[in-house]
Amino acid sequence: MNNKPMFLLLLFTIFIATPSASAASCPMDLSYVETFPWDSSSCRDPIDSQHCCQSLLSLFGIGLAKHLKETSIFQLPDENTSTTCLQDFQLKLSSLRIQPELVPSCFQNSTQFVTNTSYCAGITNLTDWREKVGILSPLDTACNGDLSSETSCGICTDAGFKVTTQLSTIAPKNSTKCFYFSILYAIGVVNKFGPTHPETAGCILGMPLSSKGSSNNGKILKLVFGLIGALVGVVLAFVLIIMYRKWDKMRKENIYHRSIENSVRDSVLPNTGAKWFHISELEKATNKFSQKNMIGQGGDGVVFKGTLSDGTLVAVKEIFDLDTRGDEEFIYEVEIISKIKHRNLLALRGCCVASHNVKGKRRFLVYDYMPNGSLSYQLSVNGANKLTWPQRKNIILDVAKGLAYLHYEIKPPIFHRDIKATNILLDSKMKAKVADFGLAKQGNEGQSHLTTRVAGTYGYLAPEYALYGQLTEKSDVYSFGIVILEIMSGRKVLDTMNSPVVLITDWAWTLAKTGKIHEIFDQAVKDEGPEKIMERFVLVGILCAHAMVALRPTIAEAIKMLEGDIDIPNLPDRPVPLGHESFQSSLLNGMQSGRSTPYYNSSYSTSMVSFK
Ligand SMILES: *[C@@H]1O[C@H](CO)[C@@H](O)[C@H](O)[C@H]1NC(C)=O
Ligand SMILES: *[C@@H]1O[C@H](CO)[C@@H](O)[C@H](O)[C@H]1NC(C)=O
Ligand SMILES: *[C@@H]1O[C@H](CO)[C@@H](O)[C@H](O)[C@H]1NC(C)=O
Ligand SMILES: *[C@@H]1O[C@H](CO)[C@@H](O)[C@H](O)[C@H]1NC(C)=O
Ligand SMILES: *[C@@H]1O[C@H](CO)[C@@H](O)[C@H](O)[C@H]1NC(C)=O
Repeated sequence: MNNKPMFLLLLFTIFIATPSASAASCPMDLSYVETFPWDSSSCRDPIDSQHCCQSLLSLFGIGLAKHLKETSIFQLPDENTSTTCLQDFQLKLSSLRIQPELVPSCFQNSTQFVTNTSYCAGITNLTDWREKVGILSPLDTACNGDLSSETSCGICTDAGFKVTTQLSTIAPKNSTKCFYFSILYAIGVVNKFGPTHPETAGCILGMPLSSKGSSNNGKILKLVFGLIGALVGVVLAFVLIIMYRKWDKMRKENIYHRSIENSVRDSVLPNTGAKWFHISELEKATNKFSQKNMIGQGGDGVVFKGTLSDGTLVAVKEIFDLDTRGDEEFIYEVEIISKIKHRNLLALRGCCVASHNVKGKRRFLVYDYMPNGSLSYQLSVNGANKLTWPQRKNIILDVAKGLAYLHYEIKPPIFHRDIKATNILLDSKMKAKVADFGLAKQGNEGQSHLTTRVAGTYGYLAPEYALYGQLTEKSDVYSFGIVILEIMSGRKVLDTMNSPVVLITDWAWTLAKTGKIHEIFDQAVKDEGPEKIMERFVLVGILCAHAMVALRPTIAEAIKMLEGDIDIPNLPDRPVPLGHESFQSSLLNGMQSGRSTPYYNSSYSTSMVSFK
């Protein structure tokens, strides 16, 4: 039993003695091979050649790392030296009674250890390394200490991949060799215990340690990370890592998505007709969110027109800025819309939560499509059909009814906070629906309505809300008053042609006060309706948009006034015109521009942005 290795050894000595006419000597100190506590079982009967070769390479790597530490050179000077070193290595292994022919079969190509500038971004020595990677690479901080714990070893391994990635941008095709250099650098130069320290070699080189070299558990796994000379090994490791990371990321995202999905599904959707959409349904409906289908865009999202498989037309709004707004807000918005069911409020048809490997998480709200676009669009010069007086009158009453529902029929009441012409949408019969509950707030009875974050759109914001954050149902009434005036006059909330900018309320109030109320009427419908009724509508608009909260009617009172059930009080005086400079700076601070509604973009949004 003892004879066989002895015979082989003898044979080998003869074999290697012949070609060693090349008098090169090996610069590596290989004495550690005899004492290092590695687990050599894979190289003993029965031989597991794959694991054995990896172990032998790691073992040889210890010598290369020591060599790097001593000479600052990553590899060996020439092929003859490399061959000599491998022969020395083989001899050392023989003394451990490991079959010598394993070395030539594992290291078929001794040139792989020879210095060659084309291996990794031209790096051959530490000077090159520091020039390419920098003096303080992630390895220098992550791999210097005790690597015996899973965590510290993982951090070091991660740093290795980071540096390899960094290098592969310089030498794209040679990241394998660069990975190998990173390992030699980490263990030979960075780590304070050095390459012959078992735990360090176990982590960085993936060296399997013998049981006396402490806990072996988990170390085997790290083989994958190790110095795997066989190219296939390293490539495989890369692929495995990348696949693992991808899979892990996907798994985490999936768990997260399912939790969001469940919280929306469970708490919100069951009591409504709203549906849970899969992203593929929305992609199909909107022609993969093509530009052609885009019908609106604003600061908080984009709106696409879509056709569901049953032929229904829908508006799909993708919400932006999820990082700052977060999912709570998305769920809150869905929750609020799910609570409302009224013919003058735009109903939610469904929602969708998805993730995209580039864009990250995506959130969608799906509404009924409103073929006539927004009120703002209809009032604009490009408006498809000029609104008639009966249409205008009905739109005003529709909006009022929608608001009355929000204020009185839901407990606690909901304040919309963003009533404006772009948020009022028109269906095929020109019936108005209030949309966009992104800023809506459900008031809690008995609680102060002071809010710290003022949101809304400049011009439509009630002054007490803009200035002091005081939110009441009358903040919505103020915005509604502005909308009435816009509809009645065909003018925009801000007249930016004039300097200083004129607010529609100031303009209308001044004309009404001086008995020139007829000049407020839109020329297009001036002669269409009964003068008295049109006058009444304008007065209600002025009253609703009164600067002082106490003098403003509630929406219920406003409806009665519009319908002629109660008389309109005399126009009370106003303290200062709202457009007065003292108001402007604070109003501008409260301004929030460019929110998108499920339809056309407001021409206001743009003018307001430029106004800012
Ligand atoms: C390498 O060895 C060969 C013989 O095997 C010899 O001819 C050659 O000169 C040697 N080269 C160096 C650089 O030592
Ligand atoms: C050794 O590797 C070099 C390039 O690295 C290659 O050109 C040569 O063919 C290889 N030799 C053997 C025997 O695999
Ligand atoms: C460097 O390696 C390439 C291929 O990997 C080989 O063709 C070339 O001869 C090597 N250069 C030296 C100096 O060994
Ligand atoms: C990458 O290595 C190959 C041989 O392994 C070599 O031919 C090539 O020039 C190297 N590329 C760079 C950018 O270093
Ligand atoms: C490191 O290698 C570069 C070439 O890659 C060489 O110019 C430089 O002199 C070497 N430095 C040292 C200290 O060996």
